[in-house]
Amino acid sequence: MLSAKDRLIIALDVDTTEEALSLVEKLQDYVGVFKVGMQLYNSEGPEILKKIHSLGGKIFLDLKLHDIPNTVGQAASVLTRHGVFMYNVHTAGGSEMMKKARESADKVSGQNGSIRPLVIGVTVLTSINQSILENEMGVSRSVEEQVVSWARLAKESGLDGVVASPKEIRAIREACGEEFVIITPGVRPEWAAANDQKRVMTPREAIASGASYLVVGRPITAAADPVDAAKRIVSEMEEGLKC
Ligand code: C5P
Repeated sequence: MLSAKDRLIIALDVDTTEEALSLVEKLQDYVGVFKVGMQLYNSEGPEILKKIHSLGGKIFLDLKLHDIPNTVGQAASVLTRHGVFMYNVHTAGGSEMMKKARESADKVSGQNGSIRPLVIGVTVLTSINQSILENEMGVSRSVEEQVVSWARLAKESGLDGVVASPKEIRAIREACGEEFVIITPGVRPEWAAANDQKRVMTPREAIASGASYLVVGRPITAAADPVDAAKRIVSEMEEGLKC
């Protein structure tokens, strides 16, 4: 079973290589994975991945691919060649697109003998509420029904897991089983500010609800002492693992 530390993903939401590597150097003994999202990747390009890897960091490449199946399949081959630990695609892109992403991960890692990256689906973004889902996207299901439906589709299409809000963890776990990976942002310890996150859970609650990995950004990266903040969050996650 993964340890609490292995399950903690730090969001490197910064613009520069210098800021990102400073966080990796400080935190890599205390956390499991570093998340490179569209801000850092679009600013520094694929070089940043090599630099984080050279410091021994594992990477979640959070680029949320969403395009026609062939384009996503080709892009997924490139991401697999970068040797990242996991990357993601939008489940809204449909089953054929998700299957292509998984096939590329299998094919490229099989050819170069590397470990296959986990391929993760993004379900309903936590910034989308019921009213936006209905009125702007034309979806009449509840957010939870939509998330669970997309999580099922992701699983059937060969994906390893999904990103979802902490509130949906239990329903996804029930629908998709124990092995399915559930990654959740929107995690806030009681001692940290919520910032712009609206539907939050503590690290202990999120792990106790069945999350596989937690994504945490500002409560650690903006803390006066990021190492101390990471250690406190890992110990709260350890409590959750005992539940
Ligand atoms: O600083 P904070 O802990 O809020 O960072 C959360 C990270 O998780 C950010 O990188 C954000 O983009 C990401 N995320 C999120 N909600 C989603 C998907 C991703 O907060 N639904």
